[in-house]
Amino acid sequence: MLSHLKARPTAKTIPLVPMRERDLAANLAKLGKTAQRWAKEQRFRAKHGQVLAIPGRDGSIARVLCGLGDGCFTWSNVAARLPPGRYAIEGELPAESANDAALGWALACYTFTRYKPSKQRLPDLVWPEHADRALVSRLATGVALARDLITTPANDMGPTELSQAAKELAELHGAEFRVIVGDDLLEEGYPAIHAVGRASDDEPRLIDIVWGDRTHPKLALVGKGVCFDTGGLDIKLAPGMKLMKKDMGGAATLLGLAHAIMDAKLPVYLRVLIPAVENSVSGSAMRPLDVLSTRKGLTVEVGNTDAEGRLVLADALAEAASHEPALIIDMATLTGAARVALGAELPVLFSNNDGVANALLQAGKDTRDPLWRLPLHRPYRRHIESRVADLNNIANTPFGGAITAALFLEEFVGRQTPWIHIDTMAYNMENRPGRPVGGEAFALRALYTYLERRFGA
Ligand code: BES
Ligand code: MN
Ligand code: ZN
Repeated sequence: MLSHLKARPTAKTIPLVPMRERDLAANLAKLGKTAQRWAKEQRFRAKHGQVLAIPGRDGSIARVLCGLGDGCFTWSNVAARLPPGRYAIEGELPAESANDAALGWALACYTFTRYKPSKQRLPDLVWPEHADRALVSRLATGVALARDLITTPANDMGPTELSQAAKELAELHGAEFRVIVGDDLLEEGYPAIHAVGRASDDEPRLIDIVWGDRTHPKLALVGKGVCFDTGGLDIKLAPGMKLMKKDMGGAATLLGLAHAIMDAKLPVYLRVLIPAVENSVSGSAMRPLDVLSTRKGLTVEVGNTDAEGRLVLADALAEAASHEPALIIDMATLTGAARVALGAELPVLFSNNDGVANALLQAGKDTRDPLWRLPLHRPYRRHIESRVADLNNIANTPFGGAITAALFLEEFVGRQTPWIHIDTMAYNMENRPGRPVGGEAFALRALYTYLERRFGA
């Protein structure tokens, strides 16, 4: 991926001439008459993603014109349409566009190669002038880490392997790593994580990474790490179960974000908590209408074993909140309802803090990594009441499922700590340049940008 960004041009480097549709005439005027005519006859309009090679006298490619839109993925479109070779952007781009160009190019060159080598021959780009190479590299690497973890199927990405990946990340950055495994979860007060994960042969666990200077503001990231979600005994039908290797997408995305935070040495005292479990079916599985205890002390009736994400997050969020961080961010592939509401490509944002929510939404707009906010509508709290316990893990209505799930989580965060909850798909359902089908780190760039603006030196 980053290997397709090159330090310097070679003798054969092809100039790449970016232009906006509105600047077409002015840009063409700078080319010779032959090139102008060629562009015209080829109907080159500098439309977003459009590329046109201009031949030299000997039939080689003299330069390539490309039409640009906004943001990094417009560059992924360009990269995806070019024949292999080394390209260098002609003329200067402003720093932000230079970063977009490099990041979009790197993402266009991402492929999942765990089980077979990529057959694609991808073009190279000379690092654009003024690009912040460290920033681009940490974002590209964070996104790739998340995608790889999500796309890897459950037979190679169970709780054990997810925990191993988190440990490797911690070691890379000199962070503390701890994991509580199996029955130790009961000893240490994580009964809900244990109840959800105990039916699997791969034991449930709580991954706990701590990094940074303890005098800096505390930031907690809490990611749903359900490595496979069969639904448990309220078992999913085949179509609903199929993609559930991605049910650790929240955890994966936050590990990618944690990489970026630590790589940038952002002045925060970071904690990453990941309940890593497999929601499985066996004789030891939790049953419908079991009542669970939780770390916070609240009792929860299991209305449906398929609403497992909120159960594991409940214990992890209670632990995160008990240290009163400046901000908790949780991310989870939590509900199908969030997908019904906003589709697969727009993560749902919930927050108990308007200032934080608005700043994150703005960062999402600025980075073209958008989120959309839904309300923590408190009147719906009544829908998750239980006759026998403090809470039910499913609502007594099919409506507003993403909201009732968020309200369930809020019970464990409390109202004091500023908190962001993101309900995400974590998966691209369609192929687009820079965004291949498979795991996706939605909101990673938005979150990083927000955090850098807020906490950066
Ligand atoms: N992991 C799923 C939610 C999910 C499904 C996310 C498909 C993205 C795509 C979650 O654990 C789940 O099964 N949720 C149930 C909750 C219901 C039982 C209250 C759902 O959304 O149907
Ligand atoms: Mn489920
Ligand atoms: Zn799930």
